[in-house]
Amino acid sequence: MGRKWKVVSVLVSLLATVAMITSCAGPTPSPTPTVSSPTPTVSSPTSPPPEVNALTVYHWWTSGGEKAAIDALIKVYATKYPDAAIMQTPVTGGAGFTMMGIIKTLVLAGDAPDAFQMHAGYEGKPYFDAGLLDPIDNLWKEEGLEAVIPEVVRHMCQFDGHYYSVPVNIHRVNVVWYNKSLLDKNGIDPTTLTTWDAFFAACDKLKAGGVQYPIQMGEAWTAAHAFEQIMASMGIDFYQDLINGKITSADDPKLSQALEIFKKYLGYVNPDHAALTWDDATKRIITGDGAFNIMGDWANGEFYVAKMTYGEDYGTFAVPGTKGMYGLCIDVFQHPKGVKHPTNSLGWLKVVASKEGQDAFNPIKGSIAARTDADISKYGPYQQAAITDFKGAQYMFPSVVHGSGAPESFKVKLSDIISGFTTDLDVNKAAQALTSYTKEISGEYTIQWSLK
Ligand code: GAL
Repeated sequence: MGRKWKVVSVLVSLLATVAMITSCAGPTPSPTPTVSSPTPTVSSPTSPPPEVNALTVYHWWTSGGEKAAIDALIKVYATKYPDAAIMQTPVTGGAGFTMMGIIKTLVLAGDAPDAFQMHAGYEGKPYFDAGLLDPIDNLWKEEGLEAVIPEVVRHMCQFDGHYYSVPVNIHRVNVVWYNKSLLDKNGIDPTTLTTWDAFFAACDKLKAGGVQYPIQMGEAWTAAHAFEQIMASMGIDFYQDLINGKITSADDPKLSQALEIFKKYLGYVNPDHAALTWDDATKRIITGDGAFNIMGDWANGEFYVAKMTYGEDYGTFAVPGTKGMYGLCIDVFQHPKGVKHPTNSLGWLKVVASKEGQDAFNPIKGSIAARTDADISKYGPYQQAAITDFKGAQYMFPSVVHGSGAPESFKVKLSDIISGFTTDLDVNKAAQALTSYTKEISGEYTIQWSLK
């Protein structure tokens, strides 16, 4: 297969993050004082109150395509568990940057929803370290998941060799979305845009042809998303070092080169990017206000909503320099400890992991199923091509911006630093900030990725 994937968890706990998560948890309860009651009480059986038949689900799927997809998944659950009252809480804010703060507060207050969206890999680690997740090895066994979930995904659902989450999909992050008629009109063949030089030459052509801002981008995390793909284009060795916390010199030539490329890239980007959501930016490709948008393949859901036809109205190519690479963003759900409706919580996980659930959700979402037995006929041409690319990928790499590849604090810092960079364009300052932060949190890099 020419590709090996190994995740080695070293026996160092996420000290800083656990300290953070436990210090927010408030004081440990003191022993309950005994109160002697004047009248003798009749001891009643101490069985717990019956479980109310409800399911609370938190997620951040609020764009047109995302909403349609989660609604389809909920429908599968509702068909299987018709008596359960389903209470969805969609939290606006792409990539979970807003929702994660809300979830932390709820979980630490002992009020974890029965189900909440997260990313595979690092994102769940602080919860695992703080003992806030239940292992779900049995569910994996009962549902026969090991036989149908690829190894790369299986590893990312485990901590210390046990399963703590189930995946609902596999998104690809290193994708350029383009407006076909704009490219045709300007004589640009997208298959030739495999290098940054060729890509920027195409941007110049578009500008000369009257497209003021050929690249459309959105808010801070989408800038970090684009920069992450540029870093991946520096090669798998560099990316592997990055996520293993080994890019620690501000003079690192590849880091500087990635920042220089991003600086040039920003020269073609809409100046109002900070005020746009990711889907607003994608919409500008749909309307033809811009030609290119680097975004994960959840963007495909927006093209579907707009009734655009793949290959006729829009198309995709791998981010320049990343052909043969598949950048992973995997949405998962887990079983938090002490949820109010544990039976329904497990029922939800089963639906999320099921072929039926995944084949209802993913064709609308833009992702491919996390299962190898998906019914390919249900998926559109972009996704069918993505399934082929996934199978034949030379290298896979876990996204940092989408919670998997690096400790969460690094993900947040990266977004802040890159957001600053979009205005000051100071390569040296950004390189200093990124590398000194990596050194500062060196103890948090507890997963050793081996991507080759
Ligand atoms: C990703 C998420 C995708 C998609 C995207 C934009 O992090 O995993 O499913 O929703 O954010 O919100």
